[in-house]
Amino acid sequence: MKKPIEMKVDLIAGARPNFVKIAALYYANSVFDGHFDFRLIHTGQHYDDKLSGVFFQQLGIPEPDHNLGVGSGSHAEQTAAIMMGYEKILKDKRPDLVIVVGDVNSTMACAIVAKKLSIRVAHIEAGIRSGDLGMPEEINRILTDSITDYFFTTTPGASQNLLDTGKKQDQIHLVGNTMIDTLIENRKKFIQPDLWYTFNLKEGEYFVLTLHRPTNVDEENSLKKLLVLINDASKEVPVIFPVHPRTAVAIKKLELEFRNIRFVSPLSYLEFNYLVERSKAVITDSGGITEEATFFNIPCITLRDSTERPETVWEGTNKLVGTDPNKIRKCFKKIFNGNWKKGRVPEYWDGKTGERILKILNKL
Ligand code: UD1
Repeated sequence: MKKPIEMKVDLIAGARPNFVKIAALYYANSVFDGHFDFRLIHTGQHYDDKLSGVFFQQLGIPEPDHNLGVGSGSHAEQTAAIMMGYEKILKDKRPDLVIVVGDVNSTMACAIVAKKLSIRVAHIEAGIRSGDLGMPEEINRILTDSITDYFFTTTPGASQNLLDTGKKQDQIHLVGNTMIDTLIENRKKFIQPDLWYTFNLKEGEYFVLTLHRPTNVDEENSLKKLLVLINDASKEVPVIFPVHPRTAVAIKKLELEFRNIRFVSPLSYLEFNYLVERSKAVITDSGGITEEATFFNIPCITLRDSTERPETVWEGTNKLVGTDPNKIRKCFKKIFNGNWKKGRVPEYWDGKTGERILKILNKL
């Protein structure tokens, strides 16, 4: 029998959370017998092995077909470098479709380039909104969605946000969460990190902390206040803090001792999630981690005033507290008293999102 014609698809990935999302499409494509001919474009926004290489290796993502190697820079520099690099690739060879994921600079930059060359764009994790235009990611979300052809959403709320901006129902597909696909696929392979022994950790008796939002970490004093507070509120329970390179710059300048906080290098995916799944609670300013904590039913304190993932608060284990010391202390108290709310996993966060996406694309 003649093999059906393959669909040529560019997958765009630039930063750590993108790698986790595209992995799910590779897992799903194996169910489709490789019907989708993926060309993987790594923009090089994240380039350290700990933020990039190790994710490819652990999640089984193939070597990128192109690496634009843009590295760090101001938003304009990074976005422009990605656009120029990707335009050259598209001019050389056009795919049938470009898939962008999430909300990083690479997502927005490549969507714009593709659309201006009249190539169709699909956005995975479309429609989520924090309402906070002070976040670069919110700008990336709005701009990407304004030119996307096919929207794949994680929740009914995200779909509704798109309808509210005039997008048509038949462009919007509620499919669930690719990050959770990857979590489910790899859960049995989680790795106990060496630091488990170094710090003598015990299940349910440590916190995990991550901080990387510019508002929390770029200004030394805010970071100092937060860390002093967390160090104090966590009492004698160790806080494991894998430090993002952006945060490391500010931490180096703080000349303070933190009795409880254990500063460690960024962890690999399989090690990080091993820790999260067994932790007492997570304290974070990330978005993706609030979804993972919700999936694991682990209490999660979010040090932000808004979230683009409200379902992690309504349905899940997440609580938004911003940087208000009283609210943060109250949260720790609740956790220590065992009074944290119990969550449930949102609909369609079931490990089948990648398959649903490819099934829909197959019909197009
Ligand atoms: C980016 C995304 C953010 C996402 C986060 C996940 C944007 C606007 N931000 O933030 O949405 O949540 O990734 O981690 O796209 N650096 C390194 N090594 C690297 C990469 C970065 O040392 O491999 C350092 C550089 O000093 C750089 C800084 O980290 O200036 C910030 O990197 P950047 O990609 O600009 O943003 P992130 O904070 O990582």
